[in-house]
Amino acid sequence: MALKIMILGANGFIGSALTDAILRNRPWEVYGIDLADNKLGDSPKNERFHFVEGDITINKEWVEYHVKKCDVVVPLVAIANPAQYVTHPLKVFELDFEANIDVVRHCVKYGKRLIFPSTSEIYGMSPDAVLDEETSPLVYGPINKQRWIYAASKQLLDRVIYAYGVRDNLDYTLFRPFNFIGPNLDNVEEPKEGSSRVFTQFLSNVLYKRPIKLVDGGSQKRSFTYIDDAIEALLTILENQDNRASRRIFNIGNPGNCISIRELAERTIRIAQEFPVLREAARATEIVDISAGEYYGKYYQDIQVRVPNIEAAKRDLGWKPTTDMDTAIRRTIDFYVKQEGFGTRAAAMAAGI
Ligand code: UGA
Repeated sequence: MALKIMILGANGFIGSALTDAILRNRPWEVYGIDLADNKLGDSPKNERFHFVEGDITINKEWVEYHVKKCDVVVPLVAIANPAQYVTHPLKVFELDFEANIDVVRHCVKYGKRLIFPSTSEIYGMSPDAVLDEETSPLVYGPINKQRWIYAASKQLLDRVIYAYGVRDNLDYTLFRPFNFIGPNLDNVEEPKEGSSRVFTQFLSNVLYKRPIKLVDGGSQKRSFTYIDDAIEALLTILENQDNRASRRIFNIGNPGNCISIRELAERTIRIAQEFPVLREAARATEIVDISAGEYYGKYYQDIQVRVPNIEAAKRDLGWKPTTDMDTAIRRTIDFYVKQEGFGTRAAAMAAGI
């Protein structure tokens, strides 16, 4: 029998890529909800995709009904942008925690499998050089650093889900994305600076011929993971052969792509020059330093290094990432420059029109 999968936030960065991969490569049915459908490409044309435009905080009956109807629930609705953790911490709590805890409880009530996005942020400022799902301490800053409300919300959800697993046998998998990048991450044509995660922000800066800003010098490091690799891991988790993903936590990341933010800026500028439409703007792009306080405000606190241990995913899911950093950057830029009318808009942006 074909699996029925419910994806909340099907139009998001991960949701749209997962929907597309399922419809292309698996015989499963997908029931999706999101506020819009602009990232869904051809998916809505597929008869195995049942999509409704809606808000999970309003269309609560639809959500509960479909949890009941489906086999697996993947709740991907969340604010996942650090700029918003500091400007709208309560919105982060309300959406990321409160809206999602309802979905978790529906899964418990109806005995459904839950595939839940934890986050690499959960490790916070952990002292471990390599972050391990089972052993690494989770370390956050003081309450006045509001950035941590996202990690704290996600941590509590992880703990609640784990407890439901112990007490009620909830069948769950927690996956921890480590800086996924790829097509549809954020809108690079968004004129407002600071509204995007780092890679798409840098690409946007190139487009608008604005200097790339390195927060506190850009020595902090992240392990960037290409979305196609990540989706492979999620498909294996969804398949759940021999229950190997049940009641487990998996880091989904690429330790081989651990680079500093300064290096990311340099590589983005170098690789953007391979694309004729971006060449001139990329050559002209400067890199400048900015303090964290100036860029994000006083409620921000950064994470210096974040490297995942992926032995669990390798061993139990038979998964490993294969896309190197430059390929991930190149493929993502390629996606954005191929958007309809990109060339004309890029020329206008670079000219400051
Ligand atoms: C991200 C976000 O919290 C989520 O997307 C997610 O849960 C998680 O991490 C993940 O994807 O693993 P973070 O990596 O700190 O957190 O967010 P980015 O916006 O991608 O920033 C990365 C680094 O670049 C930070 O150190 C930030 O200070 C720096 N940065 C960002 C700059 O130097 N310049 C900019 O213009 C933007």
